[in-house]
Amino acid sequence: MSTAAAVRGTRSAAEDQNQPLLEVQGLHLEFPTYWGVTRALNGVDLALRRGEIAGLVGESGCGKSVTAMAVMRLLPEGHYRVPQGRILFRGEDLLARDEQGMQRIRGQHISMIFQEPMTSLNPTIRVGRQIAEVIQSHQDVTRSAATARAADLLREMRIPDAERVAGLYPHELSGGMRQRSMIAMALSCEPDLLIADEPTTALDVTVQAQVLALLKQKCVERRTAVLLITHDLGVVANVCRQVAVMYAGNVVETGPVDEVLASPRHPYTAALLETIPERFHRDERLRVIPGSVPSLLHPPPGCRFHPRCAAAAPRCARERPPVFWSTSVCAGGDRHGAACWLLEDRDGNCGWEECSP
Ligand SMILES: Nc1ncnc2c1ncn2[C@@H]1O[C@H](COP(=O)(O)OP(=O)(O)OP(=O)(O)O)[C@@H](O)[C@H]1O
Ligand SMILES: [Mg+2]
Repeated sequence: MSTAAAVRGTRSAAEDQNQPLLEVQGLHLEFPTYWGVTRALNGVDLALRRGEIAGLVGESGCGKSVTAMAVMRLLPEGHYRVPQGRILFRGEDLLARDEQGMQRIRGQHISMIFQEPMTSLNPTIRVGRQIAEVIQSHQDVTRSAATARAADLLREMRIPDAERVAGLYPHELSGGMRQRSMIAMALSCEPDLLIADEPTTALDVTVQAQVLALLKQKCVERRTAVLLITHDLGVVANVCRQVAVMYAGNVVETGPVDEVLASPRHPYTAALLETIPERFHRDERLRVIPGSVPSLLHPPPGCRFHPRCAAAAPRCARERPPVFWSTSVCAGGDRHGAACWLLEDRDGNCGWEECSP
């Protein structure tokens, strides 16, 4: 997405130079089910460079978590298939790795924070010990050094009285503290990439803002790339520099946050923006996008958004639109792209082209 080159540790300069850290290319993913095949991902493209914080947004059921779980290779083995596509991490296709190889990647290079921390924190082990165990599983340190590091991480996450909290069980923590502990655990091995799936949705707005600000600060300090999954464009505006908008298994719009939010080009992004509460007046009713995300068992042909799109033309119902890219390059070298026939530039003057970015 943007230019970011930091040579850290033993990484070669060539590896870091402008190469995306994570590149999802044309990823199709299906779940064969009793009722038929759910085509959850329909050619997803994403790119994230080292140190970048990008948002992945979209309504419920659009495929955000499936994308994240595919990158982590945490989907139930044998219950899904990938007919096409690649997931390149530092240039290597993760889909070709075996489980042992993936275990080395997870935690050490890519960490994930889940929406509900109780599903990933072990309820029977004290929080500090859990973090220390993660540290010990990836680093050659003594138990006492790992314990001290765990308390340091909790302190860094601004958990008051960190030593005492380290000795508590997850159920003894507040929701905000649990999320902070999860972030501490996810960052404990200094991953290159952190995937945060709705990390603050369960928290109240004030705590959410604090936790997100802290997450951002820690990742900026460590130059950790972050893929932040959320349904909240307000969160994206506050935290991310890049955004990818997903709809029904496709990335329909991508680009720098300021650009995409100021002038959305895909009607779906525009409709999502209309639903942000800050954008309408107090006397107005809560706005929603008419209709709903289609079943991915029987997705509509052409552009999957066309049944809900006020601007849809006959072609939208027949042919899947390619991504059209803005011919002007945004600050930082990024480009704004959207998969919508409305951007087709028949006379070559409207500033959008169908080509690789
Ligand atoms: N294990 C599975 N088997 C069958 N279908 C699945 C499976 N996991 C996910 N899906 C389907 O894939 C689609 C995308 O789901 P996903 O969880 O990625 O949505 P999401 O964008 O993360 O939504 P939310 O905002 O609600 O978390 C949905 O239609 C879902 O039903
Ligand atoms: Mg999800």
